[in-house]
Amino acid sequence: MAEVVIVSGKQQAGQLVAEAIARLVRSRPDAVLGLATGSTPLPVYEALGTALAGADVSRVRGFALDEYVGLDPAHPESYRSVITREVVEPLGLDPDRIHVPDGSPEGIETTGERYEAAIAEAGGVDLQILGIGTDGHIGFNEPGSSFASRTRVKTLTQQTREDNARFFDSIDDVPMHCVTQGLGTILEARHLVLLAFGEGKADAVAGAVEGPLTASLPGSAIQLHPRVTVVIDEAAASRL
Ligand code: GLP
Repeated sequence: MAEVVIVSGKQQAGQLVAEAIARLVRSRPDAVLGLATGSTPLPVYEALGTALAGADVSRVRGFALDEYVGLDPAHPESYRSVITREVVEPLGLDPDRIHVPDGSPEGIETTGERYEAAIAEAGGVDLQILGIGTDGHIGFNEPGSSFASRTRVKTLTQQTREDNARFFDSIDDVPMHCVTQGLGTILEARHLVLLAFGEGKADAVAGAVEGPLTASLPGSAIQLHPRVTVVIDEAAASRL
């Protein structure tokens, strides 16, 4: 059963998770962080600057959960750009140690296996930050994803493209495909920390934390993991 921590708001959540990450990095300077995108983890990244003050971050390694396919990595909404802007630059991490799946059309056939190999070579992820989609997806593992899935190319659902259209000029600009770590990949991280805020996430959170284990709600896969911390506000906890 996941440990559920109900917080007063995003700021408290950010601080709590940032402190856990800082403890990890201080005890293990080459810690491997699993980085999520979307708006949910932003308060964590904002709080990390203070939490990590004075710590040696030069050897910290990181792996993003996912990337759009066919979006120029220099596009401001590519997850490569988001991770660089929100995490690597403000914290002064070594960009060569922070990995994002290759979403280029040329590399698409081998992108999944190359990413899996890089994670394995790093010794696996120590702490994986997760958001959750309104349809219960984690990473970009949309409903129907196998619990055993590995990093691979997926088609985005219409719901996710609509949810993410706010980051683009129009929904037509939202890519159709993505590369995402699989649920099986995510479950191998040593500690999962799932965050969610707001009423819109309440059903997904309830399904993930205490609903039946089902591929229809990919987030329910977290119930298979021995060490999960769920950090949510009261609105996101309202259907628990
Ligand atoms: C995106 C990301 C997910 C994220 C989800 C929720 O599709 N690929 O990793 O958890 O959306 O986004 P937000 O945090 O903005 O609600």
